[in-house]
Amino acid sequence: MNAAKKVIIDCDPGIDDALALMLALASPELEILGITVVCGNVPARMGAENALKILKQMGRMDIPVYIGEESPLVRTYVDAMDTHGEDGLGESHYPEVTKMRPRTGAVQFLARMLEQAAKAPEEAKISIIALGPMTNLARLMRQYPESLAGLGELVSMGGSYKSHGNCSPVAEYNYWCDPHAAGEVYAGFAALPVLRGKRIHMIGLDVTREIVLTPNLLEYMCCLNPERGDFIRRITRFYFDFHWKQEGIIGCVINDPLAVAYFIDRTMCSGFAAHTEVETEGICLGQTVVDDHDFWKREKNSHILTKTDALRFMKFFFTRVIGECEEQVLEELMGRVLR
Ligand code: RIB
Ligand code: CA
Repeated sequence: MNAAKKVIIDCDPGIDDALALMLALASPELEILGITVVCGNVPARMGAENALKILKQMGRMDIPVYIGEESPLVRTYVDAMDTHGEDGLGESHYPEVTKMRPRTGAVQFLARMLEQAAKAPEEAKISIIALGPMTNLARLMRQYPESLAGLGELVSMGGSYKSHGNCSPVAEYNYWCDPHAAGEVYAGFAALPVLRGKRIHMIGLDVTREIVLTPNLLEYMCCLNPERGDFIRRITRFYFDFHWKQEGIIGCVINDPLAVAYFIDRTMCSGFAAHTEVETEGICLGQTVVDDHDFWKREKNSHILTKTDALRFMKFFFTRVIGECEEQVLEELMGRVLR
């Protein structure tokens, strides 16, 4: 097996962030250097406490957690606790981890780690899997632009190409929560010489909406691995209820784990390169405007993922997080998303 890829996961845990962290922690292809937390689903400090709970659940208290930006660059902060619960983990109310405490200075941690990798060969540079609003990344780009020489790849769960928004008719939460940050990061990938040739891999709602955890799949998890399955059941119950009320489905769209799976296995999703910008004002605030027909003839700063294979993802997730599964059983269970 090739050497593990060095990554930092920037997130806002958050129920689906928690599932993404579990998947990353169960994947030997990744060397997770740290977890940075940003205000998003829940305030950054709460998100950092939740990240610690996931690390404890997965037996990885060796990984540091850093608290990052506690408000968006410009907008007033709007959380998503209506979706993720008042504790950010579906009101599962797991006890706070006391053995280890989160540190402050997420942006400085990102800069320090990337600077150390600035002269490393491409395959040894540090990638970022971003699962929340891009506020930490925008601050990094503003304050430490030279550190980006150490960046490998950026995979971002966020945005939407042709699928409807989840915060407005056109906007996805991560980029709607801090559109100025997302806009600056996408602009940086189009303009900064240090990022020439690099693209943001945008795992948007077009692909993540295909990934639905259903009651049947949850029961299968609990049958195969009662301890791990029960943890997932406890943190997703609230999320199921929200999806029934909000989207009329029995199940929950788990966005973030797909970004981790795609980072590890690029065949998990397919898409195209394009220039993308993020709207920062008006009724389309937070919308990703993807120039799919190259009208503007601008630098292709993004790789827009539009297709995925939900069965392949579920098999990937089960095999790593639960420890096993039978593809035929998965396929049968996945035929039953009730609408
Ligand atoms: O729009 C979905 C995204 O916003 C996910 O990352 C979810 O965790 C929230 O951060
Ligand atoms: Ca998230």
